[in-house]
Amino acid sequence: MTTSRGAAAGDDADGRAQLRPADRADLLGVFRIEKAVFAQPWPYAAFEGLLDAPGFLVAEDEADRDRSPTAASEGSIDAGNVLGYVVGDLTPNHGRDIGHIKDLAVHPGEQGRGLGRRLLRASLSALAAAGASVVKLEVREGNHRAQSLYADEGFEPARRIPRYYGDGEAAFVMRLDVGEWVRGRNADGS
Ligand SMILES: CC(C)(COP(=O)(O)OP(=O)(O)OC[C@H]1O[C@@H](n2cnc3c(N)ncnc32)[C@H](O)[C@@H]1OP(=O)(O)O)[C@@H](O)C(=O)NCCC(=O)NCCS
Repeated sequence: MTTSRGAAAGDDADGRAQLRPADRADLLGVFRIEKAVFAQPWPYAAFEGLLDAPGFLVAEDEADRDRSPTAASEGSIDAGNVLGYVVGDLTPNHGRDIGHIKDLAVHPGEQGRGLGRRLLRASLSALAAAGASVVKLEVREGNHRAQSLYADEGFEPARRIPRYYGDGEAAFVMRLDVGEWVRGRNADGS
């Protein structure tokens, strides 16, 4: 599969990416990336329903801010100015609100340049600011790349759910004490 972005651009996605809350105009780009990177993508309406979630953020290409996705040509992934996204939501829980990282993805041509970590950190900060004390997520048992990112940020495996995904793969539930994570980041000055 070819991509409409990537190494050919020869630049640093992290450096030119601006993170901000998602809005309706981003949804087509988000959905195109979702379909490109996941075997069982969320439907468009699922993103639409989460537009108000406190940790739904996109990374946009600052140099290309007004570009909308065009009609997709076969084999390419035109996500407009969207380079990646994260969906983080909050569930009230008697004063110990639970954050949930529900989705995280970076355009295939922009992966491995620090954007996934930036998106994850920004969503965790937003969830903590909105009142989360813990943040959970599910990750495919075979997705070692995502697992190493989550573990590196301090997520710990809490349990394994057999056949969690539609294709029968198990999920690890991972959990982060986000208050502690914020204190650690403040102590780092980062
Ligand atoms: C998982 C994903 C979001 C990470 O985003 P990214 O921008 O590629 O990752 P980053 O460049 O920020 O790297 C963050 C960490 O991920 C891990 N990582 C990145 N590329 C990796 C690779 N090729 N192999 C193993 N680990 C890798 C590393 O821990 C890395 O940290 P380091 O660079 O300090 O060693 C991205 O690869 C993606 O969209 N994958 C497909 C969708 C997906 O699996 N989403 C997660 C669902 S739970």
